[in-house]
Amino acid sequence: MLTKKVEEICNRQIEREGYSSNLYMSMASWAENKGMAGMAAWLYAQADEERMHMLKFIRFVNERGGVAVIPAFKQPPVKYKGIHEMFKEVLRHEQFISASINEVLAASIAENDYATTNWIQWFVKEQVEEESSVQLIIDKLALAGEQGIYFLDRDIMRMRGEK
Ligand code: FEO
Repeated sequence: MLTKKVEEICNRQIEREGYSSNLYMSMASWAENKGMAGMAAWLYAQADEERMHMLKFIRFVNERGGVAVIPAFKQPPVKYKGIHEMFKEVLRHEQFISASINEVLAASIAENDYATTNWIQWFVKEQVEEESSVQLIIDKLALAGEQGIYFLDRDIMRMRGEK
């Protein structure tokens, strides 16, 4: 049986995972409209994963004798400054979610709820993987940016050579 505190913090996490799903769906839609099909596919898949995370929490709360609350979600942003900035925003959001998962873990320990302490470990590991995969994309984007400058530099050199 979940204590009231653990039930409440798990319900808070249901909202956060669901919002994450909508946020990534909005980002995917933006990327798709910019012609970035690969980035859009990655973000749509991420949105599906976040929905699955939300469902995991819903079913866990109900299974443990609590009541899962399906919340209203605030609307995520529609526009983004650029692809690089957007993925930095994904990383900041995942860091926020990791901190939030840690708070669920801390609450379960404080309440001597070792079943939740044990169950939440999957999310702790998942967050490490998610932060790492987003960081990898940010690194690749930075590299692509540098290569872009490199090719531009060569073009400019060629232009000078033609004179
Ligand atoms: Fe389910 Fe990426 O947080």
